[in-house]
Amino acid sequence: MYNAKAVTIGIIIFVILFTSPFWASLLGKNYTESGITLPAREKECVESAEFMRNKHMQLLNEWRDEALRNEHRVYVASNGKKWAISLQNTCLKCHKEYTEFCDKCHVANSVDPYCWTCHLIPQGSKK
Ligand code: HEC
Ligand code: HEC
Ligand code: HEC
Repeated sequence: MYNAKAVTIGIIIFVILFTSPFWASLLGKNYTESGITLPAREKECVESAEFMRNKHMQLLNEWRDEALRNEHRVYVASNGKKWAISLQNTCLKCHKEYTEFCDKCHVANSVDPYCWTCHLIPQGSKK
């Protein structure tokens, strides 16, 4: 004999625990909910949106190292497309809306890249 009520409660608790990462992710920060303005859809980023969302900081570090240490100024993306390694003339050419894009998401995630003491933020987006 078993206690049906206890089993049911056990199952409910199990389901809640088992799916808790999912609930936690709903409560956690969701990058796409930060109200950023994406550039026109007909263009593509240097890598997939997924990759960029998670790895643009590493990518920018790589770019800087390649450009400065190795004098290498062409980036070959995973799809074979070539891009000039330039924060200013590549990233910020498309992402002109610095305040509405980069900055909005950074503020939402409490990050404050220190790049702009030297690199220029595109004109027209006041910070
Ligand atoms: C103290 C000044 C300074 C700061 C701060 C700085 N940079 Fe730079 N960065 C430079 C200089 C100078 C170059 C060399 C420009 C060249 O040779 O084209 C450069 C080049 C680069 C390049 C490769 C070439 C280009 O034109 O984009 C990247 C990418 C880059 N920096 C990214 C960053 C990022 C990302 C940050 C912030 C996390 C940052 N930098 C902060 C001074 C700075
Ligand atoms: C040719 C135009 C273009 C260039 C160059 C470009 N981007 Fe993008 N970027 C886009 C577009 C369009 C999207 C949206 C892609 C999508 O949602 O499928 C995007 C998406 C992103 C995202 C993800 C936003 C999100 O949805 O969470 C980040 C972060 C990003 N770009 C940063 C950068 C950085 C950093 C560089 C330079 C290394 C760069 N981009 C260069 C057009 C560009
Ligand atoms: C969808 C959200 C989002 C967008 C859009 C975005 N970023 Fe970020 N960025 C982040 C997050 C989150 C971090 C912190 C990541 C970490 O610390 O691991 C970050 C970190 C960085 C860093 C490293 C800062 C440091 O001090 O280490 C740089 C540089 C940077 N972003 C540049 C850009 C640029 C340039 C753009 C616009 C072209 C951009 N980001 C757009 C979310 C975003």
